[in-house]
Amino acid sequence: MNSAQLFAGVMTGNSLDAIDIAVLQIGESSTHGTRQERLALVCFHSQPLDSGMREALQSLLLSGHDELHRASLIGNGFADQISRATLEALTLHGLKPSQIRALGVHGQTLRHRPDLGYSLQLNAPARIAEVTGITVVSDFRSRDIAAGGQGAPLVPGFHRAVFGDMARGPADPGGVTAVVNIGGIANISWLAQPLTGYDTGPGNLLMDAWAQQHLGQPLDRDGQWAQRGTVNEALLSRLLADPFFKRAAPRSTGRELFCKPWLEAFLSEGEFSSLPAEDVQATLLALTARSIAHEIKTLESQGSRCARLIVCGGGAHNHALLSCLRRECEHQLGRSLCVETSQAHGWNPQVIEASAFAWLAWRTLEGLAGNSPDVTGALGPRVLGSITPGAHQSTRPSA
Ligand SMILES: Nc1ncnc2c1ncn2[C@@H]1O[C@H](COP(=O)(O)OP(=O)(O)O)[C@@H](O)[C@H]1O
Ligand SMILES: [Mg+2]
Repeated sequence: MNSAQLFAGVMTGNSLDAIDIAVLQIGESSTHGTRQERLALVCFHSQPLDSGMREALQSLLLSGHDELHRASLIGNGFADQISRATLEALTLHGLKPSQIRALGVHGQTLRHRPDLGYSLQLNAPARIAEVTGITVVSDFRSRDIAAGGQGAPLVPGFHRAVFGDMARGPADPGGVTAVVNIGGIANISWLAQPLTGYDTGPGNLLMDAWAQQHLGQPLDRDGQWAQRGTVNEALLSRLLADPFFKRAAPRSTGRELFCKPWLEAFLSEGEFSSLPAEDVQATLLALTARSIAHEIKTLESQGSRCARLIVCGGGAHNHALLSCLRRECEHQLGRSLCVETSQAHGWNPQVIEASAFAWLAWRTLEGLAGNSPDVTGALGPRVLGSITPGAHQSTRPSA
């Protein structure tokens, strides 16, 4: 690998579960004049968000009293946790901050309104650069939105960089590899030419909220509770009738739409008001699986065939969800589809999104576009993000 360097990515997604940090070695090699990216995961560290920070961030998801002031203070505290977690991750793996060329910090999404021209991530990059001494790349979504895009999803390009070559099945050499990232929200990448990708709808976020309300736990581990319930097809049809599921790509969504009040509006309808809680959970799990399978069917209807589906994000750990996804794909496609987690390709499902932001930081520093206009709908490829230099002192003497 030529001049490979270390880049780190920090992701805190819609699930508000953890600060995920991945360090990647990234470089380019050139064979017969063709430049090829080389990526290798060096280490990964996940630090659960403590309940105080989770509640503080949750308090900013809806507007409230003096929110600009509160957001500034919470943002500083959040950035300090990110800095500490990053330094700890580096120490644990025998690395020094000076070895990291840049740190891509996504920030916590508080509002995602590309329709109104913005997506707001809580972050304090200057503070992170000050504490860690590492150059920070932040605010990845704004430039794509300024260019008319959704600002999301940004991971399909990384999915292609990692899984684009490896996953052609010998049994189906012409088939397309699809990657689905099941975080709080789920998004699909269709690794064809052109690259396609968009949000499919809720991933774990509604299941997490329902488990919190009824079990007092932040998640339904392995989907065990959902498995004790029965899918209510009438409720599932009502949920899938939301106009979001009919919207054409480019499309992205967030907690603004798929939140507890969204679910409660359906549950307050007479026929569903007395459903056992575990049946609601089973139905939410089926909603995630069916909406993903439906998109694979829709993408196939445009002419290519899916060879395999690679699942990443926290939802890949939910066995009941994976089984349901296999059944839904078989039902909708009329054949069994190879559904496997990214672990089958040597990538822990949890590391992919943080790794994507390390890769995006690399692209920014290299002056390479980070967005995929066919995915986001932007007018064209754009170099994403804002750079906050990490060095504590100017590298040039003052005049
Ligand atoms: N063993 C598991 N069983 C069920 N769900 C899981 C499990 N592990 C992780 N998850 C789900 O994954 C979520 C975190 O996924 P993640 O990819 O970090 O999402 P985000 O990007 O939104 O933070 C958790 O909130 C939880 O819903
Ligand atoms: Mg997470």
